[in-house]
Amino acid sequence: MKKIEKLTPEDIKAMSYNEIIGLVRETNRTPGGLNTIKTVARMLNLNSSSKILDIGTSTGHTALEFGRLLNCEVTGIDINDESIKTATERCKRFKLDKVKFQLDDATNLSFKDGVFDVVFAGNVTSLVNNREAALNEYWRVLKPNGYLVAVPMYYIKEPSKKLVDDVRKAIQVNIEVQHKQEWRDFFLRENDEMFEEVDFKFLKCSDKEIDEFCKNILEREHLKKLSKESMETLRKCYYDFMHLFNENNSHMGFTVFIIRRKEEDVFNDPELYHSERV
Ligand SMILES: C[S@@+](CC[C@H](N)C(=O)[O-])C[C@H]1O[C@@H](n2cnc3c(N)ncnc32)[C@H](O)[C@@H]1O
Repeated sequence: MKKIEKLTPEDIKAMSYNEIIGLVRETNRTPGGLNTIKTVARMLNLNSSSKILDIGTSTGHTALEFGRLLNCEVTGIDINDESIKTATERCKRFKLDKVKFQLDDATNLSFKDGVFDVVFAGNVTSLVNNREAALNEYWRVLKPNGYLVAVPMYYIKEPSKKLVDDVRKAIQVNIEVQHKQEWRDFFLRENDEMFEEVDFKFLKCSDKEIDEFCKNILEREHLKKLSKESMETLRKCYYDFMHLFNENNSHMGFTVFIIRRKEEDVFNDPELYHSERV
């Protein structure tokens, strides 16, 4: 990407939402944010010896919060260079020497087989061109008893065609309108079992909340290097993106899927006596 001071209004208008996030250094959070991270850490009893891979880490929120919570080895990867730079700077500020960030592609990971206890994929697989290749890679780098955590977002209320087209244009990805079951079927392969599955829905933000959020982000020091015209264009694009995603999220939910390999050869019969909490 060009240096900030060289960005023209046309450059900014041509940027996808993902590139804008890199530019403004917005903290992209996994659906459910810190709550999802704490839920996963508790459910899987993660600790300082756990090794976690955060796929599509963006500016590093999930990886850094796992690192802060568990003081364990975490690697965050993304294809966006700007986001990886921001994540690395944030990591230095937290002084987390067991957390690392690197450029890498989910569909062709640079890691050896079987090195991670957890592969965390928060709202990223929908953006990857070759999802099958990504899913194969997640399992390839997991240890034999590792867990895949996938947190896909999906529609729980039918969106209008215009809304979907606007989101496609904003993120410059030809997303499909997907529902929970399609994600469940995609992630849960024949040899795997669902270990945990927790559903959530998004709440709509007020216009005031969005205004305050945008104002806070756009006042960042590094953005002062933009020309007046480029700043105005960025302001308009950013507000438009936030309102669009607020509207879109009000049609959406997400699930924390935690999946592991079935061990049919070891436990070769299913559970018969089920129970429920009283
Ligand atoms: C919507 S953001 C989600 C970021 C974070 N996981 C979260 O849940 O907030 C998706 C991220 O995935 C990254 N991404 C898209 N395709 C990728 C790929 N093939 N490999 C790695 N990262 C990818 C994007 O650059 C972006 O930072």
